[in-house]
Amino acid sequence: MMVEGRFRDRIKIIETIEVLDVDFSNIAFTGKEEIDEFYDEVDRLLEATNRRWYFLVNYTDCTIADEVWDHFAERGKHSNVTYGLGTVRFGVSASTRQSIRARAMQTQFRANVFEAREEALVALGELRRRREVTGVPGTEALLRVQDVWVNFGGIQALRGVSFEVQTGEIFSIIGPNGAGKTCVVNVISGFYRPARGRILFQGKDRTDLKAYEVAELGIARTFQNVALFRGMSVLDNIMTGRLLKMKGNVLLDALYWGPSVKQEMEHRAFVERIIDFLEIEAIRKLPAGRLPYGLQKRVELARALAAEPRLLLLDEPMAGMNVEEKEDIARFILDINDEWGTTIILIEHDMGVVMDISSHVMVLDHGEKIAEGGPADVRADPAVIRAYLGEPR
Ligand SMILES: Nc1ncnc2c1ncn2[C@@H]1O[C@H](COP(=O)(O)OP(=O)(O)OP(=O)(O)O)[C@@H](O)[C@H]1O
Ligand SMILES: [Mg+2]
Repeated sequence: MMVEGRFRDRIKIIETIEVLDVDFSNIAFTGKEEIDEFYDEVDRLLEATNRRWYFLVNYTDCTIADEVWDHFAERGKHSNVTYGLGTVRFGVSASTRQSIRARAMQTQFRANVFEAREEALVALGELRRRREVTGVPGTEALLRVQDVWVNFGGIQALRGVSFEVQTGEIFSIIGPNGAGKTCVVNVISGFYRPARGRILFQGKDRTDLKAYEVAELGIARTFQNVALFRGMSVLDNIMTGRLLKMKGNVLLDALYWGPSVKQEMEHRAFVERIIDFLEIEAIRKLPAGRLPYGLQKRVELARALAAEPRLLLLDEPMAGMNVEEKEDIARFILDINDEWGTTIILIEHDMGVVMDISSHVMVLDHGEKIAEGGPADVRADPAVIRAYLGEPR
């Protein structure tokens, strides 16, 4: 198929990374005709390929007149829905960014806006990886737990547990009380040392690391029993989750307050984004200890997110919540996973939630893995049903 319009050179296919590279730079869209002209070419080219692509879109110094924004967005959305695997954008000016975000909110599209082309490409790589993890052999698991044993005196809390978590998954751990679920989170996060076995994160052995070293690798967690600083404000509690990201020397920072103030402001801005995201603006100044339990759990989630983790461990984040609160948290978990690409390990007793949002489920009973697989398979597994009904094994 020949495409020969004046925008031809601005639309390229990069086969190796499944990308359609779209260049809107230095264009001022003022009328519907040129928008149509551009997108007609995009759609013609895409139609001819007969497959889907990731869109990498350059908005550097591109302006779109207010009157034609809707039309522009409509055409973009159409191409996305018909031919897209996902879109990343870069070079977006502040005002365009706002319009895109507003649009993204209205139409349930993820905005995915980045400063530079390189960042956009990295994000694109993430998108591709997340699609590929579903069952493609040979990809390195994000986390590998191998034959892990944990003992407390005479109690064997974990007895040779092994599993792998792929990048981008929502991996749920279920099982009766005392099965060893929290123990799994505790060994991954470095709170317990396994008596035997190995734990690898991103291919590297981290079995012997301490909790703070694990955190530095990009693993954050929440606790089954809320562990906030009760007297501190919500905002300050969340800021503590950000401490790892605040590099630099306190003394030097005190002398050269310029960069330090700037850094602090950037961290605050990031934390404000999380507060916004989890819809807790109204309570940001309140002491954490005075909040109802459900909100405390939400603040704990916010604190874990402030560390920008690659792997997020959530130990019963919805325990003690009513149905609406649970739905909120389930939606947040999905959004965190989807929007930030965060891999999640979730311990949860509510089977409805687990079945709804997990990509993979592992079942523990008496310190052993008794089943693993997709949510539907696990639910139907006789060993799982037995464990939950408490029949003798
Ligand atoms: N610090 C500890 N000291 C002694 N025993 C412990 C400790 N932590 C856990 N255990 C024991 O290890 C076993 C597994 O506990 P774990 O907390 O992992 O269970 P769980 O699956 O998270 O249960 P629940 O659903 O009740 O949270 C239990 O028998 C528990 O009593
Ligand atoms: Mg537990």
